[in-house]
Amino acid sequence: KNIHYFDEAGSSNDIAKKIASTAEEGTIVVVEQQTGGRGRLGRKWASPKGGIWFSIILKPKVALSAASRLTLTVGLSVTNTLRGYGIDAKIKWPNDVLINGKKVSGILTEVEAEIDTIEFVVIGVGINANMSLRDIPEDLRENSTTIRDETGKSIDRVDFLQKLLHEMEQQYIRFNTQPFSEILNDIIALSDTIGKDVKVTMPNRIVEGRVVGISKSGALLLKKEDGDVEEIIAGRCIYSK
Ligand code: BTN
Repeated sequence: KNIHYFDEAGSSNDIAKKIASTAEEGTIVVVEQQTGGRGRLGRKWASPKGGIWFSIILKPKVALSAASRLTLTVGLSVTNTLRGYGIDAKIKWPNDVLINGKKVSGILTEVEAEIDTIEFVVIGVGINANMSLRDIPEDLRENSTTIRDETGKSIDRVDFLQKLLHEMEQQYIRFNTQPFSEILNDIIALSDTIGKDVKVTMPNRIVEGRVVGISKSGALLLKKEDGDVEEIIAGRCIYSK
């Protein structure tokens, strides 16, 4: 397959987006160290040496609205791969993977679409692997952790990436051939978010409530104080307790 490797780059997502329209589906951009790593909602993403930072180009034949389902599916792949190493990883909606309630991985999905048809999707995956939280600037640490900090051990990053790419390929085949509800069952079983009291912040409002599920479209189902259940497509999810 097509793997592009860089010792240093700004952001693997930016490189992937530049080559995406002519690249083959499944093309990967791996960067040892990012100088301009990007997170969701315009945030910075610390990407020192020792982590796993890469982006994959996909060209799924689905509507634009399915992109969030793809992000969840990649989150499931990261979670399953970590679990294969005996690490008790869980999925936090919409795009984080946690160990012991702390963020070890984040996913940044960027879509190029023409009206409702996806031209390409760039999915950037960041995994805090063989580094310590001390290697991340203080203002970007938030509630994060690293594989090494949690397990006391480093992992073989090449081996991990191989396993993760294999898992992603299997899940992507499922994504393209099975109803999403099948993948969703696995996501729900490994969800850290269901049952939690949360606050979801969106560009123009904040909603509080208890998470009662994830819908078929990949949206968060939030039961509010008045008893109504609201479907939240996108937002930043903060645990209340
Ligand atoms: C988030 O949780 O806010 C998403 C973080 C995504 C980080 C990865 S690292 C590889 C790829 N390149 C980037 O600039 N960001 C993503």
